[in-house]
Amino acid sequence: MITDAVLAGTALTLHRFPLEQKNRSLQAWDAADEYLLDHITTAYPDARDILILNDAFGALSCTLAARLKDHAQWHITQVSDSFVAQQATRHNLAENQLEWVLDETKLTQLDSLATLPEQCDLILIKVPKNAGLLQHQLSQLSHLAAGIPIVAAGKAKEIHTSTLKSFSHFMQPPTTSLAVKKSRLIFCTTTGKPVADKFPVSWALENTPFTIHNHANVFSRDSLDIGARFFMNYLPAGKKPLRVIDLGCGNGVIGLQTLARLPNAQVTFVDESAMAVASARENVTHNLSDRVDDCQFIQNDCLSDFSPNTADLVLCNPPFHQAQAITDHIAWQMFLQAKHTLRNGGELRIIGNRHLDYLDKLQRLFGNCKVIGNNKKFTVLSSIKRS
Ligand SMILES: C[S@@+](CC[C@H](N)C(=O)[O-])C[C@H]1O[C@@H](n2cnc3c(N)ncnc32)[C@H](O)[C@@H]1O
Repeated sequence: MITDAVLAGTALTLHRFPLEQKNRSLQAWDAADEYLLDHITTAYPDARDILILNDAFGALSCTLAARLKDHAQWHITQVSDSFVAQQATRHNLAENQLEWVLDETKLTQLDSLATLPEQCDLILIKVPKNAGLLQHQLSQLSHLAAGIPIVAAGKAKEIHTSTLKSFSHFMQPPTTSLAVKKSRLIFCTTTGKPVADKFPVSWALENTPFTIHNHANVFSRDSLDIGARFFMNYLPAGKKPLRVIDLGCGNGVIGLQTLARLPNAQVTFVDESAMAVASARENVTHNLSDRVDDCQFIQNDCLSDFSPNTADLVLCNPPFHQAQAITDHIAWQMFLQAKHTLRNGGELRIIGNRHLDYLDKLQRLFGNCKVIGNNKKFTVLSSIKRS
């Protein structure tokens, strides 16, 4: 991994998370970060109170903290939906001897459902891939005072007419920069006029009495994922008091349906997205209110720091990308940590696209792997922990 960065003239060491990635060309900052930082260094040299949204691994936060650290009055608010992004930021601050900015609340980390501060000098946005998340965030920003400059940055090919329409809907009409290194900036200003967004959205979960609520950044937010639909046919049933984990729970459909089929189970819903965990909690609360006490809802990086031998069953529909990069390292981390968390005799049950070689991976890791369901697109696999 390349870790030596010079951003707007500031030399930093920046790591991408998780740390042990094999792909050496991946790094913790991109050309859009560079463009954004170069621009604001000359355009807003006096900004001291800065709100940053969607800083992937803390490159923006670390650079600005390093630049502002010798001033008397300054504050950065970092807003992210991602546990991993916030964890990476804390790590990168420490790598650059800036961990004190957290202790002294010079830098505050908020999740994407938290109330934003009402006032600041400058708002920076890394344009998220998920247009719904952008709309949610612009709606939140529309509640701030009028006249605050916003500079957003992203890959030029991911800034569409619809992206600019979203800015116009919630803010003053935007303008854009020329593309530099395939990145573009968007400029606009807050209006001080609150505009509501459409999230969370709800839909009926087929073949159940349940209604599923989804915050803006939740996987398969607008309908049931086809993989999850197939997985539903292979969820356990019965009276055993199982300790189940819905790993990468998204809106929690898998865990919710499992709770309904296992009256004595306890289910832990885990996701790295704050909006996913909030959606899963709302979905249990609204649909199986008498089971909320049987559940835990945890925002975490996979099962890091979970105690060993504490689960009977881990259910998982793993992700295959992170921060716009296609990768299987999160699935692999999930499988490894599921094995660690399961008791001897416990089971990891997953769904995957047939073309991904999860069978081979699980066979190597657990020493056994059985296909328990199959269609043209998906395979449901089961591995038992034997030691
Ligand atoms: C394919 S989706 C499955 C969502 C849901 N279980 C379903 O079947 O509809 C994978 C989920 O893994 C979550 N995820 C990605 N990286 C993660 C990580 N490092 N730790 C925990 N969850 C993660 C994503 O936020 C996403 O909700």
